[in-house]
Order: sequence, then structure tokens, then C-alpha cells
Amino acid sequence: MEPAQDRQTFVGIDFGTTNSSIAISTGDSQTQLISFPNRIQFGGETTFSYRSVLYMDQGKESGKVRTHSWTGPAAIEHYLAAEEKGRFIQSLKSHLSSRTLTGTAIFGRHYNLEVLISRILADLRQHAERQLGSPIRRAMVGRPVRFVGAENEQDDGFALERLRLAFETAGYETVDFEMEPIAAAYAYGSTLDHDELILIGDFGGGTSDFSLLTVGPEIRRRGRKPGDLLGSLGLGLAGDAFDARIIRKLVSPALGADSLARSLKKVLPAVPAWIYANLERWHYLSFLRTRNVTEILKSAHARALEPEKIEALINLIEEDLGYQLHQAVQRVKVELSQHQAAKFSFRDGSMDLEIAVTRAEFESWIADELLAIENCVAALFKTSGVDMREVDRVFLTGGTSFVPAVRSIFERGLGERGFGKDRVRTGEAFTSVARGLALRAEELGTS
Ligand SMILES: Nc1ncnc2c1ncn2[C@@H]1O[C@H](COP(=O)(O)OP(=O)(O)OP(=O)(O)O)[C@@H](O)[C@H]1O
Ligand SMILES: [Mg+2]
Repeated sequence: MEPAQDRQTFVGIDFGTTNSSIAISTGDSQTQLISFPNRIQFGGETTFSYRSVLYMDQGKESGKVRTHSWTGPAAIEHYLAAEEKGRFIQSLKSHLSSRTLTGTAIFGRHYNLEVLISRILADLRQHAERQLGSPIRRAMVGRPVRFVGAENEQDDGFALERLRLAFETAGYETVDFEMEPIAAAYAYGSTLDHDELILIGDFGGGTSDFSLLTVGPEIRRRGRKPGDLLGSLGLGLAGDAFDARIIRKLVSPALGADSLARSLKKVLPAVPAWIYANLERWHYLSFLRTRNVTEILKSAHARALEPEKIEALINLIEEDLGYQLHQAVQRVKVELSQHQAAKFSFRDGSMDLEIAVTRAEFESWIADELLAIENCVAALFKTSGVDMREVDRVFLTGGTSFVPAVRSIFERGLGERGFGKDRVRTGEAFTSVARGLALRAEELGTS
């Protein structure tokens, strides 16, 4: 990319639960994506997305113990290379709405959530600045309609201010926010030669977000009006919630979720259920490595009827194997998006799982989530007063839009009122939000 010092540069940043991306617009309604070193290949990802992960470890430097941190692909490489594992943290965005979680202790020091997130945002900025050849001071940043765990607008407001603080901590001077599905709609709208009323569905790792709005060249020419947006609605579940089901069905039983332990004269569950609930969620998994959990598991191990399963659980937590588990779950999901059956494999030294899974089984595990998505879309139509027949196009984006059961909600779901395959489009799963954010920044002239 050419140095852009002489021109106005508009920056859009999509800080995603799983993947982040950055797009630049240079004032001509065209966008360019920032590319990231892709030292490690992921299924379905391109060099334009950056894994939203953080790895911290401790090493000795000239006799002193120092803590190091890496993000994105560098985090993965350092994590994999480490003999003694530090802390590998995923899905940090999902903590933003939590008032009880202020941060976490790592190597005996408390780190605020905003500071941990700012490490990723600072590295994203540096990558972009290096390619642009100029500093980034202002950015248009995406936000979900509803943050994971948020129950009302106050929770969303709280999460948003934390996200702003994380950006400021990472050295961004001014941050503007736009809803992620609206941004995706702008990206889709920029490809049109006529205006359309569209329904956007953005299915990510943490959230599923919907907007109903009119986009296209005429709207751009005359300038957007508030009435062009008919409504937005979202819910705090997406790919990570599907992953939780896979872990519950395939992994937790091998780690003693159904195991019993002797306790005086009674036989009780060996390990409290909340430990498995946290194990299923990427944003909690690495937070399980605490003295309290270690004590609980040691005592469970001593009393368990199947101690080898508890040992495997201890190993997974102590060795911080969230990355490997995520990879295994990701692989089976990608396979099941393409085929009717797949094999789930996960090996970590103390556990060796090879389990055949069919797409139909997976769909039955995520039935509640699919229903919640369907209800959310129906509620959006109801509250906005739009009839589904008026919609010209449905545009589905985000990594979880690859899941056939998610697509089929729109193609033939919603009873008689399905949109039909011909009205549903998918595309730019990992980059449409960033592109749309850059276009939005350009439109508002916020460079
Ligand atoms: N081929 C696929 N089949 C099924 N799921 C997939 C596929 N590819 C990616 N995913 C899932 O998509 C999710 C990531 O999508 P994406 O990068 O759009 O999310 P994000 O933008 O980081 O999250 P959010 O928007 O919720 O903050 C993950 O849950 C990942 O497992
Ligand atoms: Mg997203």
C-alpha cells in the first residue's frame, strides 16, 4: 500500500471476539484491507484477519524475571514453542459487559481487562501504521448491537465505555463507534448499482447481530437519513456458544463431567458443574488456572471413581490447552459446514479422543441457539414493522454464517415467510465489517 500521508485516511477497525481486521478508505469510497503476517494457517481465515488472542509468559532476562506478551499469530507461535506454558487467552471481548470481572491475575499480578484488550489493539495499530506509513489517531470501531452477557442497555453502555478505554489505552486518540451489522450493510451496499432494502445477519464468535436498512448508490448520493435504518437487534451468542455445545457433548465427558466421587457415605459428582461450564467457554477457560480450582481438582482426584478423567482435566487446565482445543473444535465445525459427517480429534497426552459426528447431531446440539437466532430475527421484523416480503436481499456475513443450519434459517426457516435461496447472499465473512467501518468513517469525514 502507498504511504498515505498526503491524503486523508479513514480507518475502520473490527475488533472481533475471534478475529480482528482493519480497513482503510482514502476518500474515494474504495477500501483496502490491512494484511497481517500469516505465519500460521487457520481454516477459513485469510491474511486479512488477525486472531484476537493474547499470550503472556515469564522468562529470565539478565537475571531478572520478566513478563512478556504477544498477540495474534505471534501469540500462537510463542505459546506453541513454550515448554512451560504461560497464559493463552481467547475471546476477551466477551468479558466486556461483566461488572464482576475486572481482570485476571497473571503471574501474581492483576491485569485489568481493558489493559489486556489494549495489547491486541496496540499491535493491530502498529501493523496498520507500518503499512500506511503514517500514525493512526482516530478510528471507526465496530460494536455489537448487544454485547455477550449484556442484559440491558446499561450493560451495553458499560461494555462500550470499557472498549473505548481499551482503545485509548492502546494509543488511539479518538474512537467513534458504529454497529457491526450496519457496517457490514455499508460494505454490501457499496457493491450495488441500485438501492435495496436489506436484512443483514452478522454471525461472529461472540454475537449475532441484525439490521434492517436501505443501502445503495442513490442513498449515498442524497446522504443517509435516520429513516433509512429501520432497526437493529442482536443477541450475545454465536460460534463460541456452538463450540460450548461441542465441548459439552464430546470433551467434558472424557474429563469427568459425569464422573462420581466418594464423599463420606454418599457418592457425588466428582467435580462441581461450574468448572465444566467455564471449560466450555473460551473466555473463561484460561481463567480456570487458579489456586482455588487446583485445590478443588486435587481433592476430586483423590476421591474420584475415575481418577484418570480428573487427571486429564487437571492437565488441560494446567497446560493451558485452550488453543489446541479451539483448533480441534474449529476443525470439526469447518468440516461439518462442508460435509454431512466429520471426525472430532483431540489429543493432548492424557486424553485421546476420536469421535465421529454427523451434521444432524451437531444441529440437534445447537437447536436452542438456532431457535434464539430465529426468534431474534422475527422480533426485529415485528418491532420495525417491516414485512419480510419487502426485503430485497438478505446478506449474511461473519464466520458462523458458514454453518448451514444458520443459513437455512433464512433460506427456508421462519415458516412460510422464508426468504428463499435466491434472496440470500453471503460473503466477505471476515472483512465486511472492517470495510464498512472505513466507509462509514469516510462518509462522516472523521479521519
Ligand atoms: N467454516 C466455518 N464453519 C463454521 N464456523 C466457522 C467457520 N469458519 C469460522 N467459523 C466460526 O466463526 C467464528 C468467527 O467468526 P468471525 O471472525 O466473524 O467472528 P468475530 O468477528 O471475531 O466475532 P464477533 O463479531 O462476535 O465479535 C468462530 O466461532 C469460528 O469458529
Ligand atoms: Mg464480527
